[in-house]
Amino acid sequence: MPQDPTATTDVAVIGGGVIGLAIAWRAAARGLRVCVLERGELGAGASRVAAGMLAPVTEADAGELALLGLGLRSARDWPAFAAELEQAAGADPGLRRSGALVVARDRDEAEALERELALRLELGLDVQRLLPSAARRLEPALAPTVRLALDVAGDHSADPRAVVLALAEAARRAGVTLRTCTAVERIESRGGRVTGVGLAGGEVVRAPRVVVAAGAWSGAIEGLPRIPLRPVKGQILRLRDPAGGGLVARIVRFEGGYLVPRGDGRYVLGATMEERGFDTTVTAGGLYELLRDAGELVPGVHEMVVEEMSAGLRPATPDNAPVLGPAEELAGVHWATGHHRNGILLAPVTADLVAGGLGDGGEPVAPAFAAARFGRVPA
Ligand code: GLY
Repeated sequence: MPQDPTATTDVAVIGGGVIGLAIAWRAAARGLRVCVLERGELGAGASRVAAGMLAPVTEADAGELALLGLGLRSARDWPAFAAELEQAAGADPGLRRSGALVVARDRDEAEALERELALRLELGLDVQRLLPSAARRLEPALAPTVRLALDVAGDHSADPRAVVLALAEAARRAGVTLRTCTAVERIESRGGRVTGVGLAGGEVVRAPRVVVAAGAWSGAIEGLPRIPLRPVKGQILRLRDPAGGGLVARIVRFEGGYLVPRGDGRYVLGATMEERGFDTTVTAGGLYELLRDAGELVPGVHEMVVEEMSAGLRPATPDNAPVLGPAEELAGVHWATGHHRNGILLAPVTADLVAGGLGDGGEPVAPAFAAARFGRVPA
């Protein structure tokens, strides 16, 4: 890497969500000077809305085996990542090792669940089939109408807002510069190599390496190579049980949604999947469907207080896998986006792979996650 004596930082990270902050923290630990540029407040994009499921097994899809492998690896990394983060930041990232139940309400859903079970067993994943009585022994708040359930003991959750706070503090303590309300408008380059980023207002942050971790907005920065990225809207509710914690201990997943307990009476109920561009409005229909479906399975949901309704944008690629590592077309640009439904889960492995690739000798990113898998994307 040629040295630029005028560089203001070694690495400019575009995006101050969980992904950008985790990379910044890890890159600083490798001795790099890092500056995070966030157009709003830290974690104000998808990280603020995310429920925080660490759920490679329940998210598994037959057509996404490389993604499953990456998710399982990151899930294994999470406990050590959380412990190290808590130590570095003096703040708890809210990891809960709860396990998950996937439940079916009727015969069609039960048949679909049998297929999901068969796939997971074929893949060697840890899933147990539960009759309704056994499911209700584990989670007595489930409605008696539940037809079938799967016990997924290895799927857990973290609290993304707590993760953002902890990562920001750990990054600060490691010497990372965090600039909020700082929008990057364009990538500066010369001779096929990045030289920095241009901010709204004209300032240029000179840097020989730029990490693009701006979620669904990553494709909108002038001067970047094109990648096929689109926003997938998710509406979500934050609920509180006035009776306190304990109604539901495990994540409860159902056709079209999930209920994630934080363990203290707070729950996150999500999420819609909508292709509506950059729209983040909250709609009556979206919330109605979530509450109706969750309330059928866990009637106690109807007694809960609604604390917040929000919508976020998942950054999605055509194969639902992230885009990680160096951009072939522009030396010095490193991708860290496209995490779709798995941004919180994939943060540890993304941080290690992308921060590792900023210097020499990092682990190469598998072709399944390289931008090159999409070929040349028309502007
Ligand atoms: N991680 C689940 C979702 O994106 O809704």
